Amino acid sequence: MCGIIGAVSEQVTNTLIEGLGKLEYRGYDSSGISLLNKKEIETVKVTGKLINLKNRLEEKPMQGYFGIGHTRWATHGQANQENAHPHQCGKVSVVHNGIIENYLMLKERLTRQGHHFCSETDSEVVPHLINHYLSLDFSCEEAINRALIDIEGSYALAILIGGDHSQLYAVKNESPLVISEGNEGLYIASDVLALDADATKIYYPKNNELIRLGQNGINRCNKKKSGTKIHYLKNTKKRVCVDKGSHTSFMEKEIIEQISLFKSFCFDSFNENFSNVDFKKLNKISIVACGTSFYAASVAKYWLEKYAHINVDVDIASEYRYRSPIINDNELAIFVSQSGETADTLAALHYAKAKNCQTMGLVNVATSTIAREVDFMHEIHAGPEIGVASTKAFTCQLAMFYKMMIEAAKQRTSIDSEILYQLKIDFLKLPNLIESIIKCSLQIKLLAQQLSSYENMIFIGRGALSPIASEGALKLKEVSYLHAEAYAAGELKHGPIALLDEHMPVVVIAPKSELTDKLISNIQEAKARRAPIFIIGDRKVCKHFGLLKNHVFELPDVPESIAPIISVVPLQLLALYCGQLKGKNVDQPRNLAKSVTVE
Ligand code: F6R
Repeated sequence: MCGIIGAVSEQVTNTLIEGLGKLEYRGYDSSGISLLNKKEIETVKVTGKLINLKNRLEEKPMQGYFGIGHTRWATHGQANQENAHPHQCGKVSVVHNGIIENYLMLKERLTRQGHHFCSETDSEVVPHLINHYLSLDFSCEEAINRALIDIEGSYALAILIGGDHSQLYAVKNESPLVISEGNEGLYIASDVLALDADATKIYYPKNNELIRLGQNGINRCNKKKSGTKIHYLKNTKKRVCVDKGSHTSFMEKEIIEQISLFKSFCFDSFNENFSNVDFKKLNKISIVACGTSFYAASVAKYWLEKYAHINVDVDIASEYRYRSPIINDNELAIFVSQSGETADTLAALHYAKAKNCQTMGLVNVATSTIAREVDFMHEIHAGPEIGVASTKAFTCQLAMFYKMMIEAAKQRTSIDSEILYQLKIDFLKLPNLIESIIKCSLQIKLLAQQLSSYENMIFIGRGALSPIASEGALKLKEVSYLHAEAYAAGELKHGPIALLDEHMPVVVIAPKSELTDKLISNIQEAKARRAPIFIIGDRKVCKHFGLLKNHVFELPDVPESIAPIISVVPLQLLALYCGQLKGKNVDQPRNLAKSVTVE
């Protein structure tokens, strides 16, 4: 989280502000820029969204040729102006993405040496350390390198040094950073998407490779590599203009977009078929992810085990490498991530690679670190997802897993060819089914009106719908701040049932399935405790309870195989409408960021 940007260009302010706009998905607690003007560093920082910084710069424009900028997702210290970046000490101004883990010890040491700190952040130790070494007469490069030796943690840093030096430096360790040379300027950013249109040649620096951007272009300045040529890649990332058109929010737009995405999955790019993997040889698949991507992985476990008869482990990335998983020969580890930058997922990938495990990525952002580092990369083709709460990326991840399951079942001849054929036919029904649900969004609004009058609620589902219940609850809490938890329906009576009364509604995800009758019993148990029941389900289940219209959403008759994909769409809409009814910014919910690059 946090986005950093830097530029050496005539148009520096515009480049920084435009770039920060594209990085706002990484955090929007505060923003700021520093510009170097005639050897002096001038800094402006504001709290809240980037628009506040834009307004501030319109009132009081700034001049410069070298500049750095930051959009913050608060880790250490509140989202106030003091904690906003850039942080400055003397002639050194720094923007940071990552976490300096030993900052307390460094802060104490520097304070003893007479340094005065203005913020509660971990990041502020960086300019102080560099300034400390500069004061000992080390060169800029040497001062930065010495500071990096002191620092433990993850970072992408843009460092502006004023005075006679007037240089911009960039360096990273386990946080994303891209450097670029254009015809009219030099650039750095946390994400290639944020680079200026002029940024035609890009370079992804290695950990702790110190880069200088200045009058002499871009240069490496670590001792061993100093002066060696940088081999640039062509920046192939198209500059897509993303706007929400006539939609009320990006979230709404992205939910609706699932219709066209699934049309293209079915009719254009269904050829993406995973035939490059030898599923017959595999004895285990481990799938590792966080948040919504983890729930997609959890659905995949049901599919791959049921239809392809492969043993699948699913792990939350932040737990995976710390539980010392045993990696077998003939195991494939799959890393699922919309952003491709999630720090925990990336660390888990590094763990698997270090154990010589084959790795595959299911990633939306094809230029991301995870996409670049896995052995086999499969893009999920969701297109840019701007809403911070993931919607279309989730269903596209599911679509990819479904295709994987079909290929694996085919190779392993684990199911009859008629069933395999039927699974392919079922998939083709998705675009129309998704469209039919979106057409009934008024009905979901009625549910949202009822549900949003409660403060707490429980979502339940069974089998592959259990992770869908979790995803529905996650979406709802993210965008409406209502408290929702999810359980596998059979678990309700093992404890959570103690919470049920007339103030604790239960939202049941109940498409037609072989477990329908068992689910009906679970609903009865909740009803007997006076819990208000909301059902998103099959006609039979909805009719069974004779609920009021504003408590049910009848799902179309869907084959069990694709029910997870279909059932999540009304849950996405439900969250959207609850968020809107509560007056929340559904695209940029509080405390969240789209790319979680800290552990
Ligand atoms: C929820 C959401 C998060 C992400 C999680 C992983 O709406 O977006 O839970 O799914 O932070 O992010 P990625 O998929 O980018 O690795």
